[in-house]
Amino acid sequence: MTPVTDSLAILKRENQVLREKEKQLTIINDFAIELIKKISIDEIVWFIAKNVAARMGFFDCVVYLYDEPKDCLIQAAAHGPKNPIHFDIKDPIIITLGKGIVGCAAKNGKSELVHDTRKDPRYIIDDDYRLSEISVPIIFEGKLIGVIDSEHPEVGFYSKQHLKILETVAALASVKIANTQHAEQLANHQKNLEEQVNLKTKELQDSVEKLSKSNQDLESFAYAASHDLQEPIRTIASYLQLIERKEKNLSSESREFLNFAVDGSKRMRKLLEGLLSYSRLKRTGFENEEINLDDLLTVMTANLNRQILETKATLKYGNLGVIFGNKTQISQLFQNIISNAIKFRKEGVSPEIDIQRATKDGYAVITIEDNGIGIDPSFHQKIFQLFSRLNTINKYSGSGIGLALCKRIVENHFGEIEIDSEKGKWTKFTIRLPLENREF
Ligand SMILES: Nc1ncnc2c1ncn2[C@@H]1O[C@H](COP(=O)(O)OP(=O)(O)O)[C@@H](O)[C@H]1O
Ligand SMILES: [Mg+2]
Repeated sequence: MTPVTDSLAILKRENQVLREKEKQLTIINDFAIELIKKISIDEIVWFIAKNVAARMGFFDCVVYLYDEPKDCLIQAAAHGPKNPIHFDIKDPIIITLGKGIVGCAAKNGKSELVHDTRKDPRYIIDDDYRLSEISVPIIFEGKLIGVIDSEHPEVGFYSKQHLKILETVAALASVKIANTQHAEQLANHQKNLEEQVNLKTKELQDSVEKLSKSNQDLESFAYAASHDLQEPIRTIASYLQLIERKEKNLSSESREFLNFAVDGSKRMRKLLEGLLSYSRLKRTGFENEEINLDDLLTVMTANLNRQILETKATLKYGNLGVIFGNKTQISQLFQNIISNAIKFRKEGVSPEIDIQRATKDGYAVITIEDNGIGIDPSFHQKIFQLFSRLNTINKYSGSGIGLALCKRIVENHFGEIEIDSEKGKWTKFTIRLPLENREF
């Protein structure tokens, strides 16, 4: 051979190698571009199986995915004579790590290139003897994701070149599969979370519904009971009074007992009246109007004139501004609190009641402070309950309904009522009512 033909031969060979390389690069490039577009694991594995087989002229290609909880490989996609229909694997092959050539590639994290399967004791015969096999693990950040495997009927079919391309494909696929798995897990997690939130919301709605139903039942019961019980109580009281008037020879002791009974029935009537007004307090649908608090208090002091004069009480207020609400209910609210402030005064001390108003966070904040007997703070919650009183009836009259009523009125107006006090010194009620004119 002449040097010219020599170098020509070299050039030809190099050209051949370059073409080969170009072909490989094109395969990898095309693969990478298409892979990016896949969005689900299923799409990705089927794309790999089909493309590897077609582009590289392989007889078949199977993709296995590693199932971490079960610690095994499960066939996820396959292309070749055994699986002519895409996306349809009825009984996926399951491979234990370390078993067969695929299992070994997975367990050792190293590719396997078997030129003659007859000489490899690890080879597991399927339906047909395939004489060569190539297995490449898919690994991401040191963790096994799956295996790409291909078998061929001929001996020595797979080359080092094939191995190189397949390893590049596996590396590209590993990132994509790992990312997609994460995204799918996240989406599942989110879905679970959403389902749980929906479930809880539904449960909550159900219990609110049940609660409001039982509240309504209770309200109508309280109304019916207090209404229907008034009549028999009235009868008892009038017959007791009749006996007292008719029986001239009653001993003074019996007369005293009769008086107790009459008093009792009168108190009972008062309690029933209170209960009736409590259950009549409408929660919704009432008239909502602008109320000038100074005007309202002026009317109230006129109503309480007798008590104010008797106890020499002084009321300090002014510039209380306006609020929105139901006038009847708001009047009841102030009347209850102010009459309590007068009633629970210290012996020998004239009641001084100071009413102020501030505005904070969209609320009118109204405080009513007195210089009376005060309340032990441990009773602060209790006094807002129906019929709860802290003093004997002999010392201070009342039915224990006033503050329960106040609480309900304030709640009807989407507000809050709080108490602060020092036993033996003072009591201060704080009422917060929303400034905006809400629909009730
Ligand atoms: N301004 C106040 N000072 C001291 N104690 C009070 C005051 N307001 C309410 N209380 C206590 O709270 C209890 C409940 O009040 P309320 O529901 O109005 O019932 P009543 O006035 O019929 O006793 C009262 O019995 C009293 O013990
Ligand atoms: Mg009261």
